[in-house]
Amino acid sequence: MIKNLLGIKGWAFAGKFSLQRYAYILQRITGLGIILYLLMHLYVTGFKIKGQEAWNSIMQTVHHPILHFFEFLLFICVIYHALNGFRLILAEFGIGIGKPGRQVYPYTTSVDRQKGFFFFLMFLVLIIVLVGAADFYLLPK
Ligand code: HEM
Repeated sequence: MIKNLLGIKGWAFAGKFSLQRYAYILQRITGLGIILYLLMHLYVTGFKIKGQEAWNSIMQTVHHPILHFFEFLLFICVIYHALNGFRLILAEFGIGIGKPGRQVYPYTTSVDRQKGFFFFLMFLVLIIVLVGAADFYLLPK
């Protein structure tokens, strides 16, 4: 068996990585963030069965501004993960990455063909996050 010498460090650097690779690392990190939230969400909503008082007390804790900011980070994670995930699904079906061809020097990489689409989606992420930020922090609740 080949030993994985780089470990988690290899996620960030294992030679010359392209933009797509970093986009994927972010996909993984945001995905893990969503799982972490899911676990915490189950824990917090579980307080409902402990009665109204326990519920009110945990609600007071989760309304802390720092936790509210983490909720906003989760929102960014979900938007990025969904839009970049949509692009990855297209790539996995071979959509938008061109037809496979014979490898002739200088080699080209097909994943970079979605670069423009990636930047377009990141622009969408930015717009949605700005609208979300207005809702999180500016609009009266
Ligand atoms: C709109 C919904 C979602 C879409 C379109 C989506 C799409 C994707 C795609 C395409 C990948 C890359 C898979 C690969 O190429 O190997 C991925 C990775 C991942 N997703 Fe999602 N996903 C969604 C929701 C979620 C949710 C709700 C969770 C967590 C509960 C999640 C957790 C993850 C994780 C942890 C990874 C990284 C897997 C790895 O490192 O290999 N995703 N997602």
